[in-house]
Amino acid sequence: MNNYIRIHQVSYSINGQAVLNNIDLSLARNQFVALVGPNGSGKTTLSKLIMGIIAPSRGYILVDSTDVKDLGLANIGSKIGYLFQNPNRQIFAATVMEELTFAYRFKKHQQPQLQQQVNEMLAVFELEHLSQAKTYFLSHGEKQRVALAAILLNDPEYLILDEPTTGLDQKRKKELSSLLQKIRSKNIGMLMISHDHQFVLEQADRIIELDRGGVVNEQHS
Ligand SMILES: Nc1ncnc2c1ncn2[C@@H]1O[C@H](COP(=O)(O)OP(=O)(O)O)[C@@H](O)[C@H]1O
Ligand SMILES: [Mg+2]
Repeated sequence: MNNYIRIHQVSYSINGQAVLNNIDLSLARNQFVALVGPNGSGKTTLSKLIMGIIAPSRGYILVDSTDVKDLGLANIGSKIGYLFQNPNRQIFAATVMEELTFAYRFKKHQQPQLQQQVNEMLAVFELEHLSQAKTYFLSHGEKQRVALAAILLNDPEYLILDEPTTGLDQKRKKELSSLLQKIRSKNIGMLMISHDHQFVLEQADRIIELDRGGVVNEQHS
């Protein structure tokens, strides 16, 4: 089956207020999907539902054919890499190297290749000169690259990126776009939340538009 993520008649309310209404979507692993829509339309909420961070009020979500509520946070996290809108929420290690090697402490069998994989990531993300830097002092763009590198080192099947171009200048955006292309060539599916119309049009093969908690438009390119 081609539908990696299946969102079935999902609604979500908080404090009696509807945030998402009856969302039905299927996302394939070989697609680069963009989720667009105005501020407050429910984009981040939908991504948190997929990650199992919050639970639907109605309906259900399947990831790789299993209900998210049965998978549990750790399993979802090992299948889907999630880049938070704010990289400060993601990065918790003191140095770049510690951030990149953290997940591996729990996967001892992968230790021999670890240094090589980390070095590759440092090169791809142009972070070599920062490997011993304190994460606290990195720029927004650098933090985002560290977060993305750490996510990819976890070998995800799918990526969800919440507003990855926020705070990036044109040059960094170009770099991010070539990185995303490289990620795609590794058969990692992607859902990118973005306000950036130009970036979305360049990158995505499917555009889903949310407004006030509902899907109002869908385009394939
Ligand atoms: N924890 C929360 N408490 C109260 N309201 C929330 C919460 N999370 C989201 N909302 C509301 O849900 C709506 C959608 O938010 P969000 O998913 O963050 O939108 P987007 O990412 O599209 O900007 C907004 O109106 C927001 O105020
Ligand atoms: Mg958001």
